[in-house]
Amino acid sequence: MTPATSFESALTSGAWLDWPLDKKRRALEVLRAKRSELVRSAWQPYPWQRPHVHPDGWEGSDGGPWCTPACLELPVYVPKAHDVVMLFGGRGIGKTDYGAQHVLDHVNGPPCDPRVPGGHRLTIVAPTIGDAVESCVNGPSGLRAYDPRVRVVGTREGTLARFPNGSRARLLGASSPEDVNRLRSAGNACLIWIEEAAACRHLAGVLDISSPGLRLGHAPHYVVTTTPRARPEVKALLKRAVVTQGRTEDAWHLPAEVREALYRQHAGTRIGRPVRQPGRVGVGRRRPVPQVVRGRDRR
Ligand SMILES: Nc1ncnc2c1ncn2[C@@H]1O[C@H](COP(=O)(O)OP(=O)(O)OP(=O)(O)O)[C@@H](O)[C@H]1O
Ligand SMILES: [Mg+2]
Ligand SMILES: [Zn+2]
Ligand SMILES: [Zn+2]
Repeated sequence: MTPATSFESALTSGAWLDWPLDKKRRALEVLRAKRSELVRSAWQPYPWQRPHVHPDGWEGSDGGPWCTPACLELPVYVPKAHDVVMLFGGRGIGKTDYGAQHVLDHVNGPPCDPRVPGGHRLTIVAPTIGDAVESCVNGPSGLRAYDPRVRVVGTREGTLARFPNGSRARLLGASSPEDVNRLRSAGNACLIWIEEAAACRHLAGVLDISSPGLRLGHAPHYVVTTTPRARPEVKALLKRAVVTQGRTEDAWHLPAEVREALYRQHAGTRIGRPVRQPGRVGVGRRRPVPQVVRGRDRR
């Protein structure tokens, strides 16, 4: 990159006008990335966007296993090898956003394996490959919203997201057995992000095939972001995962109209269920609340 001072003086003097197109484009991308960084640095994460382990006796809010602002005080959970870090919850709570940020922080962190370009080799799985491209990379909460230098490229190996430091993420769908088979060649990953896992038709296959390939670096792990759905695969995943859980009602950055619209769209479904259910909450009626972090017992 051009050193900041000459870059700034080129901007003020107008010398940038004579730069070749390619250099102008690169400079613009660097500026866009800086802008995204600034916007993001002003954000407070929602409590559920910081994976953490709840202390014993933790009750959540409203009788549900929902994270509360107090969760922000808890130490961030650092994933260990083969952990499943899961963000589970209603529409618009920042799941995709969290996945994208986790991936970018990881890719920009210490290399997992210095032998691979950029030091990291990732896999991103979504219900379809189109979802992986659209939601995880190009969409408003995807990787490019934070770093516009991330590129989707079609190669002989398949569709990849390329990061500025040379790391790559293979983008895959999970709607057919062929999709699942492609995961075999996507092996040797240090991080696998499964977006909208509960909507992935072949979720069990995705987990079975990707697991042996998760072996790069000292803590290769999964990040799973999903809206809830009562599926046996999801229940099994919840049992082994470090889970944080949020709900649309508590996503305070969402404009009120958007929140209302989401409730209306999901009326009658599990996600759109009114939050304060009669009988679930109330003074003197303390029912045991399931622990949100269930993976703890394993260790
Ligand atoms: N911590 C935060 N602070 C401010 N805005 C946020 C935060 N996290 C997410 N957002 C914004 O909230 C909106 C919803 O985020 P996102 O798309 O990640 O939610 P989602 O849970 O994936 O939604 P969906 O259920 O529709 O897939 C986006 O505009 C995102 O940029
Ligand atoms: Mg999403
Ligand atoms: Zn919590
Ligand atoms: Zn890595």
